[in-house]
Amino acid sequence: MRKKIAVLTSGGDSPGMNPALCAVARTAQTQGAEVIGISDGYEGIFERAFVELNDRSLSGVLDRGGTFLQSSRCKRFYDPAGIDEAVDILREEKIGGLIVIGGDGSLTGARELFRRGFPTIGIPGSIDNDIWGTDMSVGVDTAANTIMTMVDRIKDTARSHRRCFLIEVMGRNSGYLALITAISCGAEVAVIPEFYYHIGRIHDLLKRRYEQTKDNSIILLAEGVAPAAVFHEQLKQASGGDLDQETRITVLGHVQRGGIPTHFDRVLANRMGELAVIGLLQGETGVMTALKKSRLTLLDLDKVIGIKKHPAPELIRLARNLGIEFGDAVEV
Ligand code: F6P
Repeated sequence: MRKKIAVLTSGGDSPGMNPALCAVARTAQTQGAEVIGISDGYEGIFERAFVELNDRSLSGVLDRGGTFLQSSRCKRFYDPAGIDEAVDILREEKIGGLIVIGGDGSLTGARELFRRGFPTIGIPGSIDNDIWGTDMSVGVDTAANTIMTMVDRIKDTARSHRRCFLIEVMGRNSGYLALITAISCGAEVAVIPEFYYHIGRIHDLLKRRYEQTKDNSIILLAEGVAPAAVFHEQLKQASGGDLDQETRITVLGHVQRGGIPTHFDRVLANRMGELAVIGLLQGETGVMTALKKSRLTLLDLDKVIGIKKHPAPELIRLARNLGIEFGDAVEV
C-alpha cells in the first residue's frame, strides 16, 4: 500500500521552512508516497486541518520566508493525554509517518510521538541555532544575514554621530546570533548568555575606544542575557552616571524572523527535507536531520533533546583573536 506521510511546521517560524516543505512534498511524490500538510503546527492535528501539497499549492512558495502551512506553539502538546489523542487522530487518518519542522520544543513533541510508537522524524528549523547535534538549523543563516544588514545600516548613522549602539538580537537562551554577527559586523562587544560579562570591563573598553578614536562602537546583546534597556542602565551605572559617548538602543525584534531565505538556507532545507522523507520511507523514526561538517545525517532525538549547545570552540577562538569582548566562560 502507498505510504501516507504528513508534514507540519511548529513553534516560531524560520526562513527556509517553505523550501523544506517543498522538498518533503517533491521527494515523497518522486518516491511514490502520498503526502499531506498539516496546517498550524501540532494544533492542526486536533483540528484535522489537512492541506493538499501539490504543484498548485506549492507554487510560489520556495522563495518566501515564514511557513505557508502556518505555525503555532500548541498547548495541548504539553499534556500527555493531548499527545495520545494526536496519535489516535493520525492513525485514524491512515497517516503512516510525520515530519516535524521546528525548534527544540517542536522536536520534543516529535520525540513524544515516536515514544508512543508513531513514526516521526524532525527537521531543525529555528533562527536561534540552539539545537544540539546540528551545525546549523534551517533559518539561522537568513536571520544572521538580516541582522548583518541591519547592523550595517545602523553603523552608517553610528559613524556619522560617533555614537555607541546597543543592539539587542534574538536567540532565546543562545548567544549564537549575537556572536556570529559580532564577527561579521566588526562589533566591539558581544554579550551572550554562555559567557559571564563584566560590565566594568565593557565600559572601560568603550570609554578607551571613544577617547582614542572618537569612533562609533557596536554592542551586540543576546536577548537571553537581559533586555537592552536593563543592560544600558548597568552600563550607565558602571560609568557612575552618564556615559561619555552618546548611546542609542535598537531592539531588532521579529524583523529577524522574516525575509527571503538565503541560498544556504534553501539548500539546507532541501537537503533536510529530502533526507527526512527517505529516512521515514526506510523505517527510520525518533531521529532528526543534522548537518555535521557539511554532511547530512540522522541523529537520535533522545541524544539531542535537553542538551545545551555551546558556541563551537573555533568560533570562540576567532572572536577572541579578533579582539571582540565577550566575557569569560561560564563553568558548567
Ligand atoms: O525561537 C525563535 C524565537 O524567535 C526566539 O529567538 C525568540 O525568543 C522567540 O522565538 C520569540 O517568540 P515569539 O515570536 O513567540 O514572541
